[in-house]
Amino acid sequence: PAPGWSVTADVVVVGSGVAGLTAALRCDAAGLRTVVVTKARLDDGSTRWAQGGIAAALGEGDTPEQHLDDTLVAGAGLCDEDAVRILVTEGPDAVRRLIETGAHFDESEEGDLELTREGGHHRRRIAHAGGDATGAEISRALVEAVRARGLRTVENALVLDLLTDADGRTAGVTLHVMGEGQHDGVGAVHAPAVVLATGGMGQVFSATTNPSVSTGDGVALALRAGAEVSDLEFVQFHPTVLFLGADAEGQQPLVSEAVRGEGAHLVDGQGERFMLGQHELAELAPRDIVAKGITRRMQEQDAEHMYLDARHFGAHMWEHRFPTILAACRAHGIDPVTEPIPVAPAAHYASGGVRTDSRGRTTVPGLYACGEVACTGVHGANRLASNSLLEGLVYAERIAADIAAGHDENPPGEGLLDGNRPHARVPSPGSPAARPQRPDHPLLAAEARFAIQRIMTDGAGVLRSAGSLESAADRLQQLHTDARDALDENGKTAEPGVDTWEATNLLCVARVLVAAARLREETRGCHWREDRGERDDDNWRRHIVVRLNPDRT
Ligand code: SIN
Repeated sequence: PAPGWSVTADVVVVGSGVAGLTAALRCDAAGLRTVVVTKARLDDGSTRWAQGGIAAALGEGDTPEQHLDDTLVAGAGLCDEDAVRILVTEGPDAVRRLIETGAHFDESEEGDLELTREGGHHRRRIAHAGGDATGAEISRALVEAVRARGLRTVENALVLDLLTDADGRTAGVTLHVMGEGQHDGVGAVHAPAVVLATGGMGQVFSATTNPSVSTGDGVALALRAGAEVSDLEFVQFHPTVLFLGADAEGQQPLVSEAVRGEGAHLVDGQGERFMLGQHELAELAPRDIVAKGITRRMQEQDAEHMYLDARHFGAHMWEHRFPTILAACRAHGIDPVTEPIPVAPAAHYASGGVRTDSRGRTTVPGLYACGEVACTGVHGANRLASNSLLEGLVYAERIAADIAAGHDENPPGEGLLDGNRPHARVPSPGSPAARPQRPDHPLLAAEARFAIQRIMTDGAGVLRSAGSLESAADRLQQLHTDARDALDENGKTAEPGVDTWEATNLLCVARVLVAAARLREETRGCHWREDRGERDDDNWRRHIVVRLNPDRT
């Protein structure tokens, strides 16, 4: 690898979705020298793919209290009520500030925000843009704002590890930067505050709505740094993902809940609406209930998928309200105007993540987390639809305020050099290139990613049991043991690079996820144990918090 380089800042934001870019813009506005680093391009994360919208009590007659109630019900007894209260009360103004930043949401002819419904919401409270391209519009607006303000950004930079000082306080991050002519090789951003906004870990499963960059990097970094991680067993499976075959792999096209919000029906192969009678909200029950309803009916009928029928929308509504979904379906030879859409659940969202308080602080001083990588407590055992963009906004703003408030206490930084020039060389002993591989996290070969995805899909997917989880744990342990043995024999397992780091991160988060899922011997929210059918409030109305020993070798 190229010799190390480093830059110095007041805050480094890792990730460039709604949470990361909001945090960066607010930090910059507060006068903090801010650097954004992101694994691919600025607009490559999950935010861009969000369809349905952003939930907030913005409509007439709606209140934060009602939004709170719906969020708590969806969270199945595990939400942190104070965290949810912050989300729903600060949410409406956070959305207004996003609009001031430049995001355009769909409006009625009278100029009011158009609001739709999704699963678990008793009211129309979801603002959307471009019909079903909400995330793309938010991403566009935030990226433009970041560029307009001239924020320092480093693209194609995979975060590796947290740097800490002698007191265990955050001192920055190490990065692996790829190509693009700037900062090639391994480097570091030194900063007393690090904001993790790296998104989710959907790629831990074979089929997911998440883009290929969602490999749990932030959670893995936090675990290696000794931060607490919570609720990883609660992986949300989106009920309606376009079914492209039982062995389809990688990112799959989402069919937004908003399609059901506007009146589409879920039907089986015989055309029967099987969600009727299962829940008072039928197709608009909270997401976990609909995913379970679909999976059960698939099992009963030995079917690979169910159908979403929205032919009654007609061509005009499809073209204007859901152009993205219409195009994706047609690209795969399905015309929702004339035929029902084949759908099945796929991995969608990590409700758990790096544990934070109400200001986004993790358990490592100076390390913050927001967005999907974080576990603020707002989602509990099952996130309410369209609360994720909102959470990214609200908690990113709180983090920026907290860093700005504590800024005077921080030692003065050395100052950033402008342009693309490295500020200083990283002394070689501190550079990640020189760091020996750790026996507890040996680098995996890139192909291990696919093995991990198969193991997780077989054993820890939408439906789990003690047996399936035990088998997944054993197979993951074998991957780990093989890599560690190779390290013992050769002192090296694989070439450091994005693919090998991603596979290593996926294994790290998969092992913790499976361990938590084995421990939680009940069915709650999106954690569905077929061997433990009931929710067990006596024993399990609590969180599973994991912390790895950072010094273990
Ligand atoms: C969707 O549009 O169905 C996704 C909404 C979400 O995941 O919150």
